Amino acid sequence: MKEQKFYVTTPIYYVNDIPHIGHAYTTIAADILARYNRSMGHEVFFLTGTDEHGQKVEKAAAEKNRTPKEHADLMVGNFRQLWGKLNISEHSFIRTTDKEHIKIVQDLMQRLKESGKIVKRSYEGVYCTPCERFWTEKDLVEGNCPDCGRPVETIVEENYFFLMSKYQQKLIDYINSNPDYILPESRRNEVLGFLNNNELGDLCISRPKQRLSWGIPLPFDENYVTYVWFDALVNYYSATQYLAPAVSSLDSWWPASHHLIGKDILTTHAVYWSTMLMALDMPLPKNIFAHGWWTVEGKKMSKSVGNVVDPAAMAVKYGVDAFRYFLFREVTFGLDGDFSEDALVRRINTDLANDLGNLLSRFVTMAEKYFSGVIEMPVGYSSANNEFASVCIEAEAKAHNQDCWRRLQFNQILDSIWDIIRAANNYIAHTEPWKIAKTDPDRLKHVMFDLWCALRSVVLPLSPFMPVAVEKMWQQLGLKDMSAEAYASKGTHAWMPGYTVKVFKGEALFPRIETDKKDAAAKTAEKNKETKKMTEEIKDDLIGIEDFSKVQLKIAKVISAERVEKSDKLIRMTVDAGGERQIVAGIGKAYTPEELVGKKIVIVANLKPAKLMGVESQGMLLAATGSDGIISVLSLDRDVEEGSRVK
Ligand code: ME8
Repeated sequence: MKEQKFYVTTPIYYVNDIPHIGHAYTTIAADILARYNRSMGHEVFFLTGTDEHGQKVEKAAAEKNRTPKEHADLMVGNFRQLWGKLNISEHSFIRTTDKEHIKIVQDLMQRLKESGKIVKRSYEGVYCTPCERFWTEKDLVEGNCPDCGRPVETIVEENYFFLMSKYQQKLIDYINSNPDYILPESRRNEVLGFLNNNELGDLCISRPKQRLSWGIPLPFDENYVTYVWFDALVNYYSATQYLAPAVSSLDSWWPASHHLIGKDILTTHAVYWSTMLMALDMPLPKNIFAHGWWTVEGKKMSKSVGNVVDPAAMAVKYGVDAFRYFLFREVTFGLDGDFSEDALVRRINTDLANDLGNLLSRFVTMAEKYFSGVIEMPVGYSSANNEFASVCIEAEAKAHNQDCWRRLQFNQILDSIWDIIRAANNYIAHTEPWKIAKTDPDRLKHVMFDLWCALRSVVLPLSPFMPVAVEKMWQQLGLKDMSAEAYASKGTHAWMPGYTVKVFKGEALFPRIETDKKDAAAKTAEKNKETKKMTEEIKDDLIGIEDFSKVQLKIAKVISAERVEKSDKLIRMTVDAGGERQIVAGIGKAYTPEELVGKKIVIVANLKPAKLMGVESQGMLLAATGSDGIISVLSLDRDVEEGSRVK
């Protein structure tokens, strides 16, 4: 296989504080990409690390009576430990206090200075100390820093400037001709809008030592240190020179495939870093992806509000895999999202416990019961003309769609995986293996093999999101002797003749989370109160429970269906609702008879028989009609047997 290199980075995080859900988010996203690319056989370099210079860190250290380096040494441990707890796969960890990094920053500075792209100027500007940034007067919001809202000071000093303004048009042209350079598209437009409507200034890249000493000394002037962002951005390149894995077939790890960042640091990456690279005649990264912002229960996360989410605590409470899955399923990567434990529990109970967990456990239980766990390709098996297999093959191809992976559309990838899971659950409901086990054992072999293939096709694309759970799933599917890579190389729905696997029922992968009963009781009481209030207001429309209980609603399975002669609306169905009966319904414009066969629907079972166009209907099917006239027959989202009461 031809080796491809894949190099993904996270921001390097400030060591002034402990890591939270935002840091975890970007790093898990990078981990998903790293894992996926490894499973595709690519050479991967995955870089994260810490940003240790500058005023923020100097100040945080002073508050704790430590030197900045002592402080950084202590804080770095928090990040390293967290990555372990979140199952972040093999990665390199850069610290901007590494001597190799310092040397490379200085070398690049020197190159820019010698080529006249860094110059010394006297400068008067407004400066925000906490943000360590100069602003122009027109940037200010009511005289304060536009980022943090705190007061700014006017400072006059000599400083070194990187002549960034020279690259404005070149950068606009570059972004225009490389549509994937900045993603998602909204962020790309934001950067283009900014560049097209503002004059780009030059960038002050030094700080006088008397104001800030905690930084990399300028190689050409000992009275200054490097501006923390110039130092920090260089990490993406410097790491390739001393931390990257040695790969003989590749000449260089630079440029990166993806820089993953939060939207807060888009300008520094899209503008500062891009122009720095242009000035150094170095290639630009292939992509900068700025994801959205997490709030917590609708509020900005902040220490003072006390709502900072600790990712390690979430992983312990709900499981690392569930937490990882939630972050990328709940919110489209690129958009803002809101975190709440309620939403996390809902996802676990529906997507993981009900959909995926149930599917696996039903499958392995049946496999053990009917075949002592042995699954093999039945004689004469073919995925051609097999509707279920086609759905799975198509969805699996979508889950591996390289465009989606390149554009980091995690949500769509997960959607495709869940298409397979849903289809498999429906397939079980529809084929009823427990019945064909008695009547048609050959067919049962085909059905079970289909289900095995479906579950297998879920495993590979899902594994980067939930590595541990999926590894267990992989084992329960009898694949522990074959690595994921080996399986991947066989391609979609591949199977070696004569190959059998022995599946087994292991631990439940995603147990349902019982929501706090007291909590639930309090919520129910609250709801009841609301309902009572509402019922008092609209008494006239209401019926009592005794009226409702007169109506017998039942689940019925459609056995056969045909159109009623001379009617384009009426369909006559034979249904099994714990006993066979005939039902006529006016849904012929919305459904074909073929579509209805096999469906489980809801009927009113104790309605007096009535004749429609001369055909007797022994009950009524329930369907909703939308305001646009769309008719939708009520059906089940989980299988229950025909004849069951609906209450
Ligand atoms: O900015 N939602 O470091 P930093 C989502 N050292 N992501 C969030 C988030 C939130 N509420 N809060 C933080 C720095 N993040 C610089 C970077 S890179 C050369 C230098 C994530 O510790 C997100 O990835 O403030 C954001 O970009 C990063 O943490 C900022 O981390």
